[in-house]
Amino acid sequence: MESGLNNKVRKAFLLLAVFAGVTLSAASGPDNVIPAPVSYTLGKGTVPSGGLVPKVIPCGKSFSRLAATLPSFARDEAYHLVISPKGATVEALTETGVFYALQTLSQMRQADPEVSCCEIIDYPRFPYRGLHIDVSRHFRTKEFIAKQMRLMSELKMNRLHLHLTDSEGWRLQIDAFPELTTRAAWRPEILWPQWRKGGKKLSEEGAPGAYGGYYTRKDIEWILSVADSCHITVIPEIEMPGHSSEVTTVYPELLCRTEDGTEPEYRNDLCPGNEATYVFLEKVLDEVCSLFPSEFIHIGGDEAGKRAWKLCPLCRHRMEEEGLADVDQLQSYLVRRVEKMLEARGKRLLGWDEILQGGLAPNATVMSWRGTAGGIQAVSEGHDAIMTPEKYCYLDRYQDAPFKEPESFGSYVPVDTVYSFDPCYMIPETLQHHLLGVQGNSWSEYIVTDEHLEYMLYPRAYALAEVGWTPMSRKDPARFRANALRLNEQVSARGYHPFDLAHERGVRKVDFPESFLSKGRPVRYGSPYHKSYAAGGDGALTDAVCGGWNFRGENWQGFLCDIDVTVDLGSVQPVHYAGATFLTQWVADIFLPDKIEILLSEDGDHFSLAGTVSRDIAQPSGGTQYIPFGIVLEGNARFVRLKAYREKGFLFIDEFVVN
Ligand code: ACM
Ligand code: ZN
Repeated sequence: MESGLNNKVRKAFLLLAVFAGVTLSAASGPDNVIPAPVSYTLGKGTVPSGGLVPKVIPCGKSFSRLAATLPSFARDEAYHLVISPKGATVEALTETGVFYALQTLSQMRQADPEVSCCEIIDYPRFPYRGLHIDVSRHFRTKEFIAKQMRLMSELKMNRLHLHLTDSEGWRLQIDAFPELTTRAAWRPEILWPQWRKGGKKLSEEGAPGAYGGYYTRKDIEWILSVADSCHITVIPEIEMPGHSSEVTTVYPELLCRTEDGTEPEYRNDLCPGNEATYVFLEKVLDEVCSLFPSEFIHIGGDEAGKRAWKLCPLCRHRMEEEGLADVDQLQSYLVRRVEKMLEARGKRLLGWDEILQGGLAPNATVMSWRGTAGGIQAVSEGHDAIMTPEKYCYLDRYQDAPFKEPESFGSYVPVDTVYSFDPCYMIPETLQHHLLGVQGNSWSEYIVTDEHLEYMLYPRAYALAEVGWTPMSRKDPARFRANALRLNEQVSARGYHPFDLAHERGVRKVDFPESFLSKGRPVRYGSPYHKSYAAGGDGALTDAVCGGWNFRGENWQGFLCDIDVTVDLGSVQPVHYAGATFLTQWVADIFLPDKIEILLSEDGDHFSLAGTVSRDIAQPSGGTQYIPFGIVLEGNARFVRLKAYREKGFLFIDEFVVN
């Protein structure tokens, strides 16, 4: 029976009880669980959860019949949980199913000592429900990783993607290449911006002030044993060919060459023209494949600059020899060779969506991060994909008003946005079996401490867990929020550090006056807004809708030039004020203007300067700010013109208010 009906029955029962003068305890039930179960039926009454010792029936007949109707991945994780005055019983086909039934019971128990009698039939929407932790930018101990896996498993998340290598530090012992951990795992600066400004230098294990760390094979074996007990598969990522300056620093022979035989200026990419690169990768992957039982090995593949490849004689020779038309095809050539290495070891290749460039390797699986288009393309070409678009799944972004949050990588991804994500959106039903699932990514450039990382992970990971498990028809933002608030309290008491959802400020709001002269009036552009930051086009600056916390995809209009906009008020009238708010975000290269000018005109041709405001604060060197520039005026005009003079980067403005 569907739970909606059950809620009606429950409400009717509650009403009856109130009229009859009966006091009911606020027992917890299946609606108190994250992720919400697929279906349940409420029974009569409640039972104290303290004494419940579930009886496990490994492969009950009736449940086996039902499970046989499910796709095989769902069957393996499905469970049937019955709670009645006689006790609790669990049926499942696998240990994972039993484990998940116990997590459901445990969450109900923690919500209230009294549990409603009920019958739950539950199974996942997707086989892949992942969380990504970037241990390169800041190393995390194995104990920290284990702690996160325990909470993930309570949320029925089953994949941990470890971003083990990047320019900021190599984090995995590789016996064939000891310098990856004696040198490439250490750097002089702790903070990421300082490390970048300092020239991305490495240090050495044991050197004074060396910051970093790595996992030994023993550490990984320990992590894998905890993962096993949490029913989690750990997927290692060995980043290539980009994001690899830590490798090219300690093994410069893997860099591209220049015509005169010197080392190139661009040092982030491995040289795909050099056979030594493949020897290196094969030896590394050999050890990685023998250590990690995961079917997938993630090979990165994102954001290779490819600039050195164009100049490198080895790369050019390789392209000629292999008939490769451009550097995208050269990357594809590398990925295809790596896929063969992995397949020879019984593994499947997984990579960021840039592996589509130049043609996807025959059996590759795509992790779609620059939106969902890469994932959609992959499944339409018959490949598997995992959705992890920045807009919904990047847990390193601000989750609330930037001015009250620790500095982050910009943009705004609150828990509601994560929760709203439907990974199947725009994917035809016939192809949805190729969509393996969803993952949250916690890049750590700005996340130094463990506490800060947990703050970024939770409660947004709860939302992702529900996105990955619960069918769309069962999702309910209000119920989810209530559960997330309670879960936050529980996990805080257990030593986690979630974001304080109870004090979330929510989306940015500006109270414009009820009416103002420029509201809804047409705007003439003397300089063009950037086509990627149009904010809906020509009406954006006078629509009385304010820009949000994020510069992207909302109502902020972006200019990569001076701004010159004129609003037509329709008739000549007295004007007393004109101005706009500017957004700044250092990481996104968005700055303040040096000054703004307001000019007035009655005919739209002849303007006179009515006022100027100069920037009286320094350009930002971090964070996100919303700085109003406004001018009090004395004059009559039909046309009011705003000019903003750019010093560097972008200018982003919000409503052009004239009153
Ligand atoms: C990525 O965020 N560069 C995958
Ligand atoms: Zn090269």
